[in-house]
Amino acid sequence: MSTTALVTGASRGFGRGIATALVTAGMQVVGVARDSDQLQQLRAELGDAFIPVTADITGPVIAGRLIDAYRPSILVLNAGASPLPRPLHQHTWQSFSQNWDVDVQHVFRWVREALLNPLPPGSTVITVSSGAALRGSPLSGGYAGAKATIRFITAYAADESERAELGIRFRCVLPQLTPATALGSAAIAAYAGRQGADVGSYLAAAGPALTVEQVGSAITSLITDPGYDRVAYLLTAGGLTPAP
Ligand SMILES: NC(=O)c1ccc[n+]([C@@H]2O[C@H](COP(=O)([O-])OP(=O)(O)OC[C@H]3O[C@@H](n4cnc5c(N)ncnc54)[C@H](OP(=O)(O)O)[C@@H]3O)[C@@H](O)[C@H]2O)c1
Repeated sequence: MSTTALVTGASRGFGRGIATALVTAGMQVVGVARDSDQLQQLRAELGDAFIPVTADITGPVIAGRLIDAYRPSILVLNAGASPLPRPLHQHTWQSFSQNWDVDVQHVFRWVREALLNPLPPGSTVITVSSGAALRGSPLSGGYAGAKATIRFITAYAADESERAELGIRFRCVLPQLTPATALGSAAIAAYAGRQGADVGSYLAAAGPALTVEQVGSAITSLITDPGYDRVAYLLTAGGLTPAP
């Protein structure tokens, strides 16, 4: 029987690349997101190894329900809201806190369920933070703080897993900003505009851009290669490196 992985935010962007890479690596993938048309498109591309589930990942019972239904031994908690690209004072509390309500709440609920249920020994839980967690992101409201909290939650969970001898590995990935997805390209347009630069010159100065295929392959390596034994890794076009 093949390994079952569950990927949140699988309808587009990084999640789509991760689901594709894990199916290619021989896994059964349960892909969760709200846009059922995009999930069905991916099912048409990947075949029966991809199981689309239309759901809001922040709901109070969705983690328990899907873990009970599919018994995954791999969770990739990738889903996240696209921040409103505006400077601090142009945010309301609602727009500022959006990534706490979506990204952090989802990681909190799913990690808690992974520890309490618990996932079987040998399971892996990967959370998706951001390089912004190290540097801040002044045009994204509370995004950088939310992503830093996801890194903290992952480290706390790794510790709890060890203390209770659950044998569940927790890993956190901090990808660099990339124009390869809707979320990344909106942020890059905002930062380029802030500097009075056009997007092309901004990107040329930023160097090689991370692709969704590289994200899929890096997440596959984190799952399959026990050599990745740190909790947090930066991910750039150059690959995975331990996060400072
Ligand atoms: N792109 C970058 O440059 C970059 C850099 C660092 C970190 N990241 C992080 O990487 C992750 C993926 O980002 P991305 O660039 O691939 O963004 P994206 O293209 O906007 O995709 C976001 C995914 O999250 C899903 N999602 C959002 N809210 C959801 C909800 N309430 N319930 C279910 N699914 C939900 C979306 O699906 P539906 O809309 O269909 O629900 C979509 O599949 C995010 O956590 C992001 O913060 C991105």
